[in-house]
Amino acid sequence: MSLDQLARFPRLELVGAPTPLEFLPRLSDHLGREIYIKRDDVTPMAMGGNKLRKLEFLAAQALREGADTLVTAGAIQSNHVRQTAAVAAKLGLHCVALLENPIATRQENYLTNGNRLLLELFQVQVEMCDALDDPAAQLEALATRIEAQGFRPCVVPVGGSSALGSLGYVACAQEIADQCEGAVALSSVVVASGSAGTQAGLAVGLEQLMPETRLIGVTVSRSVEQQLPKVVRLQHDIGASLDLVPRAPIHLWDDYFAPGYGFPNDAGQEAIKLLAALEGIVLDPVYTAKAMAGLIDGITEGRFPNDGPILFIHTGGAPALFAYHPHI
Ligand SMILES: Cc1ncc(COP(=O)(O)O)c(C=O)c1O
Repeated sequence: MSLDQLARFPRLELVGAPTPLEFLPRLSDHLGREIYIKRDDVTPMAMGGNKLRKLEFLAAQALREGADTLVTAGAIQSNHVRQTAAVAAKLGLHCVALLENPIATRQENYLTNGNRLLLELFQVQVEMCDALDDPAAQLEALATRIEAQGFRPCVVPVGGSSALGSLGYVACAQEIADQCEGAVALSSVVVASGSAGTQAGLAVGLEQLMPETRLIGVTVSRSVEQQLPKVVRLQHDIGASLDLVPRAPIHLWDDYFAPGYGFPNDAGQEAIKLLAALEGIVLDPVYTAKAMAGLIDGITEGRFPNDGPILFIHTGGAPALFAYHPHI
């Protein structure tokens, strides 16, 4: 089975070659389970991460619309904003970003280092707001203001998680299926679930290509009750754009994000240290550390459906480590 319908959508080549899918021998020994990793942390622009896959579709759309400015939003330490800004720079577009401080910190590193430092290098026009409580409306209002200044803005949704952007992770599912074919029969896939496009895109792609594999989203900001409708809505919107009717159930674990979005926790910090010490791989405190904490605890607590191999999607985010120093 393949997802030929994807070829209908205009797409920039930003990721290029498939990202590596690797076995993690020392972590597998440590956990007593075969663990693989999909290295989307090493996508080839601006220190990597999952948003580049979404931006292949979103930036192509912006260019087709004749936009000269990408307008987006996120936390001060948003990886999404950093990658959107880098793509804008590469394409010769202006970038305007609406940022919030979700952890209300005055820590110098959070305010100026990590992803925020990179926004300066990419010459982003930064606007601050108290809270992104209605980001779609706030982005529309900002785009209207930018337009009044003579620019042609295109709004990139928070996290790049529209149906169009999420096609990037349908494409990633195809990559995973190709890399695993004849080599590894994955039992489960674990991914951080935030704005939900990564999980929803994978859900649609994996249902078509690897229906025996269970996809688990580890939430980074919401309870299952809050996150489930977001993932399911996107799953169906993506399906509709590909002429598919998704039926796969969505699995979410919400036990690992406390005390809240952007606040590191002990299990996450242990996961960061473990991956660094055993595999030389760098996780981030906001997303992948919490997802990996879920994977580790899920094995300990017998939460996976069987004892088969597990794939961890490394979605990037390492620049935030510098922003959270010395608290990591
Ligand atoms: C490093 C990292 N991992 C995971 C995610 C979550 O992806 P999504 O927003 O598609 O759920 C993000 C989103 O910003 C991220 O930056």
